[in-house]
Amino acid sequence: MKKKILALIMVLAFAFAMTGCGGSGSGGTLVMATNATFPPYEYVDGEDYAGIDVEVAQAIADELGMELEIQDIDFNSIIPAIESGKADVGIAGMTKTPEREKNVNFSESYATGIQSIIVKEDSDIASPDDLEGVKIGVQESTTGHIYCEDDYGADNVIAYTAGANAIEALKTGKVDAVVIDNQPAKEFVKANEGLKVLDTDYVEEEYAIAIAKDNEELLEKVNGVIKQMKEDGSLQAILDKYIKAE
Ligand code: ARG
Repeated sequence: MKKKILALIMVLAFAFAMTGCGGSGSGGTLVMATNATFPPYEYVDGEDYAGIDVEVAQAIADELGMELEIQDIDFNSIIPAIESGKADVGIAGMTKTPEREKNVNFSESYATGIQSIIVKEDSDIASPDDLEGVKIGVQESTTGHIYCEDDYGADNVIAYTAGANAIEALKTGKVDAVVIDNQPAKEFVKANEGLKVLDTDYVEEEYAIAIAKDNEELLEKVNGVIKQMKEDGSLQAILDKYIKAE
């Protein structure tokens, strides 16, 4: 009898270990790769992760009956983590682009973003055209980085590992402007004196969840949950909680 129980415990422990290791079967763990330097989408709040993407991920995990595990890594490591299976979903205010779609699949879009320009309050820079020939700070490997290099030349663009570092560079005069998504831009300006977000939008984009090419099953499940969250208003409720209407 004792032996049987021991054997059963071992079988259960093994099954648990299998599903716990980033597997995406139902009942297991949903591993989310993100870069929590991007309020209000993902940021560190005391000991916890918070933000729109964290809540969307939690809702998806709940719906699929899975535990959510968050891996906070560099933004440019997220797609490789998905490709190698280290993480199941990349949720990081990540813009769906044709270039990225060569490496991962994207879910239906769950939010929109706009690339915005942050400058010092007394700056002469007033529109995207004025970025010609000035130094621009960006977060490495983001769409803002890619667009700015294309439009203004790599020599004029300085990439930082986090948006907050680009903001620091703006404050100390190492760069003349920062190009970053509009909601984080507003958060950074709120948290730092003497900066403003320009009224002109640079590029509009769609945020979506990155999933491994060979995991069609998870893609369908995630799309199902997003569709449901759009229909029942819970997605909008999460967005409204973090993004206050002006
Ligand atoms: N939307 C931009 C992109 O996809 C920036 C995303 C940055 N996200 C982050 N969590 N740091 O490239």
